Amino acid sequence: MNILVTGGAGYIGSHVVKQLGQAGHNIIVLDNLIKGFRNAVLYGELIVGNTGDKKLVEQILYGDKIDAVIHFAAFTVVPESVNDPLMYYANNTCNTRSLLKCCAKAGVKYFIFSSTATIYGNAITSGKLSEDRTVSPINPYGTSKLMSEWMLRDYCAVNDMNYVTLRYFNVAGADPDGEIGQSTPGATLLIKVACEVATGKRDKLKLFGTDYPTPDGTGIRDYIHVSDLAKAHVDALDYLKNGGESLLCNCGYGKGYSVRDVIKALNSLVDKPIEVEEQPRREGDPAYLVADPKIIKKKIGWKPEYDNLKTIVKTSLEWEKNPKY
Ligand code: UD1
Repeated sequence: MNILVTGGAGYIGSHVVKQLGQAGHNIIVLDNLIKGFRNAVLYGELIVGNTGDKKLVEQILYGDKIDAVIHFAAFTVVPESVNDPLMYYANNTCNTRSLLKCCAKAGVKYFIFSSTATIYGNAITSGKLSEDRTVSPINPYGTSKLMSEWMLRDYCAVNDMNYVTLRYFNVAGADPDGEIGQSTPGATLLIKVACEVATGKRDKLKLFGTDYPTPDGTGIRDYIHVSDLAKAHVDALDYLKNGGESLLCNCGYGKGYSVRDVIKALNSLVDKPIEVEEQPRREGDPAYLVADPKIIKKKIGWKPEYDNLKTIVKTSLEWEKNPKY
């Protein structure tokens, strides 16, 4: 298949591009390289530009006879979205609309969209979140993604394009071969930041919130290895190609770990425990996000390979010790 991957030089996108390349697809990556890295694109052609650039996007869609679009390009940092919501609506929501419009004109058949578990907001404090749960984002990042989900759903309802929307839970880890990983400057993700502390790149880990309604008082998340998440995209594409109907599904393991669990897992892999400083809650952070992954497993046949917190942390740590970019 000919596939356009927006944001394919980024953390998750680059892992998807690697697996698509290994599966023999033709790939065009469109990335503005603001957060992405040229060296992270291991397969296909990289075009440096913006997803909101209609002329450029149309040229790619027509010129390369694109069958499927996988859309990652977005800002993803919750606190940043709280401080600058309009930037998030412009880059995430408006650019998705513009991309959809181009896809409509060019007759693209399949669309895979990166959404996020953050749109569930503070829905539950135990158990698992299924896709039919009422969505209620508590930060502009979540709202910007939810609006995109709805545009895609409404567009596909009356047009000849099918989609899979994947609601990612907490992505972490790095390519087990060590070729690609997360190198975003000023990263905010827990496991990334903790590994930076363990390798001496930061002094300490700030633990945001110890008074959540969870067993140890810290936030609980469903951490998913980036290579398993990448596989979900490849499987979703096969599902659509084989005639699958449009689908919305969670992408997580269905297991919750607290911030303290993550610190413990990391400390078991290093000589000296990392320094941790307890802080008040970070604005926009829900207490608890754990996926019910039934739909993705049943409909798409997704089978995770790295469903183990220590493995996830270990691959992050390996990358942090030996980043390639
Ligand atoms: C991440 C994603 C977000 C996605 C969400 C899905 C990014 C930048 N964020 O957000 O896009 O919607 O998962 O669940 O990709 N924590 C600390 N100290 C730190 C960093 C984090 O204590 O330095 C805590 C947080 O308060 C939270 C947990 O660790 O309880 C996870 O936070 P983080 O890794 O930043 O991910 P999310 O905010 O959940």
